Amino acid sequence: IELFLLHFFIKASNNQRCRTGTLAAGLVLLIVGSIGLVAYDPVLRWQVLQHIALRNGTMAYSQFISPKVPVRIQFYAFDLQNPIEVINGDRPFVVQRGPFTYAEVRRKEDVSYDELRDWLTYKQNRTYLFLRNESVADDSWRFTTANLPLVTILNSLRFMPQALQRFASAALAAFPNETLFPRLSVRDVAFGYHDKLLRLAHEVIPGMVYTDFIGVLAGLNNTYDGVYTISAGLRDPQHLGEIQAFNGSRSLHFWSSELANLVIGSDGSLAPPFLNKSALLPAFISDICRSLYGVFDSEVDAAGGLLRLWRFTGPDRLLANASENPDNAGYCTPAGNCLPAGLFNLTECKRLDGLHIPVPLSGAVLQLYKRLQINLQLDAGPAYAAFAPNLRSQFYPMLWINESAVVDVDTA
Ligand SMILES: *[C@@H]1O[C@H](CO)[C@@H](O)[C@H](O)[C@H]1NC(C)=O
Ligand SMILES: *[C@@H]1O[C@H](CO)[C@@H](O)[C@H](O)[C@H]1NC(C)=O
Ligand SMILES: *[C@@H]1O[C@H](CO)[C@@H](O)[C@H](O)[C@H]1NC(C)=O
Ligand SMILES: *[C@@H]1O[C@H](CO)[C@@H](O)[C@H](O)[C@H]1NC(C)=O
Ligand SMILES: *[C@@H]1O[C@H](CO)[C@@H](O)[C@H](O)[C@H]1NC(C)=O
Ligand SMILES: *[C@@H]1O[C@H](CO)[C@@H](O)[C@H](O)[C@H]1NC(C)=O
Ligand SMILES: *[C@@H]1O[C@H](CO)[C@@H](O)[C@H](O)[C@H]1NC(C)=O
Ligand SMILES: *[C@@H]1O[C@H](CO)[C@@H](O)[C@H](O)[C@H]1NC(C)=O
Ligand SMILES: *[C@@H]1O[C@H](CO)[C@@H](O)[C@H](O)[C@H]1NC(C)=O
Ligand SMILES: *[C@@H]1O[C@H](CO)[C@@H](O)[C@H](O)[C@H]1NC(C)=O
Repeated sequence: IELFLLHFFIKASNNQRCRTGTLAAGLVLLIVGSIGLVAYDPVLRWQVLQHIALRNGTMAYSQFISPKVPVRIQFYAFDLQNPIEVINGDRPFVVQRGPFTYAEVRRKEDVSYDELRDWLTYKQNRTYLFLRNESVADDSWRFTTANLPLVTILNSLRFMPQALQRFASAALAAFPNETLFPRLSVRDVAFGYHDKLLRLAHEVIPGMVYTDFIGVLAGLNNTYDGVYTISAGLRDPQHLGEIQAFNGSRSLHFWSSELANLVIGSDGSLAPPFLNKSALLPAFISDICRSLYGVFDSEVDAAGGLLRLWRFTGPDRLLANASENPDNAGYCTPAGNCLPAGLFNLTECKRLDGLHIPVPLSGAVLQLYKRLQINLQLDAGPAYAAFAPNLRSQFYPMLWINESAVVDVDTA
């Protein structure tokens, strides 16, 4: 889940090293050679362009294909202390435990170059490796949290007649060990687990549910998110990295406006050269099915002062409510049903085949890191009758994530 919390880093011109135009790419991070001074020197400008284009065999190319910037994704679990009380109508009281740290290794596969259009096409796989040495406990540690598959099913019943909802609720509650707040391991909640209720739904409602695997980042390990086609920047460096198509198209089908559905910008790991501080850096983040942009925030030092970076972050406007920023009305699902500022409804994006997983998320940009919290919408009603008749409707906090990419001296 790379979030709307973008941090782009651009190597500044006052650093000798940017002459090489070395390009390091990670997560939502990019380092592109050259701005300011360099832009006015035709020889340097030419050199930089030579180095940053995604030409097979160059360093920029191999960095792009398998980025060496170490990326960490850390989970902090919210362990529910008062499940009985919550079921009876209290607010949840949770205790945080973490970090549980994973290294994220990215690789681009099936890369092909279209000479005619100067486009690169690839798939991007991500592998997550648990780092016990950077975690508080093993990721098999269990905590009490909301039952993601059960909530998904209960919420999907809400349009049925009330009597039917109560009946279905009682039928589900008859399953052994099926509770609203089970104890689950961090690994399962984060990367997915097989759920017997979903398996049953698969048998009972054929054609509706094709998978019984569920989790916040379920299905992300060792898979690719889609097929990207981007500008390679050999002929047209100003559009380096710009996505020309995602899964063969420039638009998606999740949102309620054309603008919201547009795939705009890079994949977050590249930006065109010779940027200035007033540039907007757009990026398409497949995990949340939307495009975002970063604006210049500040200059920062990295790699022990070896690098001078420009930090671009996602502005508050991106998550403002739809009345404050009308562009965001397109993200209201269904159309017209808008969430308050800071919450973003991922349900359409995180479909479990036929079913919707009700996860809105909230986030805040802090320092160099991308942080986001995953909340599950508990939509109290007759469907919950057999599990928690007095439950309050709420956005239940499951965990939060600190995703970071740290440029080290070697990479620099
Ligand atoms: C890059 O070059 C290598 C070796 O010459 C070749 O095998 C590969 O197919 C090329 N990749 C692309 C995307 O052109
Ligand atoms: C991801 O898959 C690799 C095998 O390719 C495995 O070693 C690793 O433990 C998996 N990570 C998670 C979080 O499941
Ligand atoms: C933890 O272990 C991993 C893999 O063995 C290693 O790459 C990483 O540097 C270690 N982290 C620390 C803080 O030592
Ligand atoms: C229910 O939980 C108990 C205790 O954890 C376990 O022994 C039992 O096998 C579970 N039953 C089912 C059907 O999963
Ligand atoms: C990348 O993902 C695809 C699709 O899930 C899979 O077939 C392939 O084996 C993955 N590649 C690697 C190196 O894990
Ligand atoms: C893109 O295609 C991949 C592979 O077919 C698929 O798993 C994924 O859901 C698609 N993504 C979107 C946003 O349509
Ligand atoms: C900064 O870059 C943007 C986009 O490339 C351009 O439109 C604008 O004129 C530039 N501003 C300055 C002050 O150079
Ligand atoms: C939208 O945000 C503005 C500014 O924070 C606030 O005044 C307004 O009440 C909000 N509207 C809704 C519908 O939440
Ligand atoms: C999120 O979107 C889904 C699908 O459109 C919708 O059913 C649900 O009510 C939305 N959630 C909230 C909290 O608005
Ligand atoms: C987030 O991750 C970074 C890099 O690993 C770390 O320096 C920072 O302290 C983390 N933040 C929190 C709140 O854990």
